[in-house]
Amino acid sequence: MSTEHEASASTGAASASTDAAGASAPSAGAANTGPAKPATPSAKHAAEALLRGRFAGGIHPALHAANRSLPFDRRLWDEDLRGSAAHARMLGATGILSAESVARLLEGLDQVRAEFVDGRFVEHDDDEDIHMAVERRLTEIVGEDGKRLHTARSRNDQVATDLRLWLRGAGEALADAVRVVQRGLVNLALSADGAVLPYYTHLQRAQPVLFGHHLLAYVEMLEQDRLGLLAGPRECPLGAGAGTGTSFAIDRHATARELGFERPSPNSMEAVSNRRDAVMFATAMACTATTLSRLGADLVLWCSREFGFLRLGDAVSTGSSIMPQKRNPDGAELLRGLAVRVDGTVSRLLELQRGLPLGYFKDLQEDKPALFDAHDTLAHMLALADAMLSDAHPQPERMRAAVDDPAGFLLATEVADWLVRRGLSFREAHEAVGALVRAAEERGVGLADLDNATRAACHPICAEGLDEVLSVEAALASRTAVGGSAPERVNTELSRWQQELAAD
Ligand code: ARG
Repeated sequence: MSTEHEASASTGAASASTDAAGASAPSAGAANTGPAKPATPSAKHAAEALLRGRFAGGIHPALHAANRSLPFDRRLWDEDLRGSAAHARMLGATGILSAESVARLLEGLDQVRAEFVDGRFVEHDDDEDIHMAVERRLTEIVGEDGKRLHTARSRNDQVATDLRLWLRGAGEALADAVRVVQRGLVNLALSADGAVLPYYTHLQRAQPVLFGHHLLAYVEMLEQDRLGLLAGPRECPLGAGAGTGTSFAIDRHATARELGFERPSPNSMEAVSNRRDAVMFATAMACTATTLSRLGADLVLWCSREFGFLRLGDAVSTGSSIMPQKRNPDGAELLRGLAVRVDGTVSRLLELQRGLPLGYFKDLQEDKPALFDAHDTLAHMLALADAMLSDAHPQPERMRAAVDDPAGFLLATEVADWLVRRGLSFREAHEAVGALVRAAEERGVGLADLDNATRAACHPICAEGLDEVLSVEAALASRTAVGGSAPERVNTELSRWQQELAAD
């Protein structure tokens, strides 16, 4: 995880605090460490003057509290500084600002950066958001030139750019954390080399499968999720201004390139109004969380006495307040429970935009608490999954016992396939094996224990040679087609993943 994203944890969850004016301030709650706000509209403060030139007095505290996004968007300081530096350099290169002004701006931005890095940056209560906070501080440091930075820029294209930069960085950091979980899965598979457990459909025992194949399924799912996280925004909104572009002869290709985008966004209104990249990132996060939730569900089952396929170490197990014997898999349950928060973010972001006329609206500010909460939750889930996988202890004997339990009839499909090879249609074979299973169940035995007369009564071909297919090892070894669960296949896949994950 990159430290900038970790260190700047957002409260994300909108805590509804009620201020002195009795108004609810949904997004400016717990994380607001600034000084207490006055209860009535006041005279303009210095930072307010940046935005409120056309107003006679200060802002009403209730509106200020709701409008102020600094408590959660302060974590965009790095993106805001990078975007501002690119914009400043472009203003210099195009001759819109003098080289001297740009040099002072860049030096000032570096100083502001140092203050954030060292934790020295002082927020003012009337800094409305991270963009205004940076500009206010920059102007304090460099003087008049600070006031020139916003030439040919609006907060609308600025915030859209910052957000897309954040989406990319956050995606890369989460993708790295996914890699760690993939490694954990591969290591667990290697530690239980050759372990066989039932594959279930409808939670009914179906066919034998290698534990490694089961775990590699999660590695593949996470790989698809990882690529989704890395998809990242491609178009740079910077230069779209408030939404119609700018009258200055800016170079949008230069800023797009410097900030690592493929191209400037072709339509200025789209650039400031669209949060589709955020929706796509939320979707990628939701897919990842959903995969982890299914892993959690498997862990919960496997840890139960009924399954007993896995034992979780003490550090990743929890106790009960009343039942002293309990050894609960709360972490695995939380992989399911926390996924709800992440999944919900997709609809939160869609709902923010549903029915919104084209153009920038303050509604869009709410994209950030939603995204940050989902990001932090997913980062937490990935760390949790890694911790659990690293201290998970497979129980191959219990797995094998479930496979060998004659009442499970895990090899019924093998018998059907065997009959097909002897000339029966698959449907006939299916029916014949159905009769075998019924007969075995009536007698309370497995297929291997049926006498020859009973076998023959189910189908004449079954009278001889049936035993040769009633082997778990043979069933496994036969699944050699691409994507299959034969040990040689699974071993090849395990080696491929070991290499792939080591290369990173
Ligand atoms: N804090 C705002 C946001 O997150 C920044 C954009 C403000 N633009 C505006 N026109 N008021 O969306």
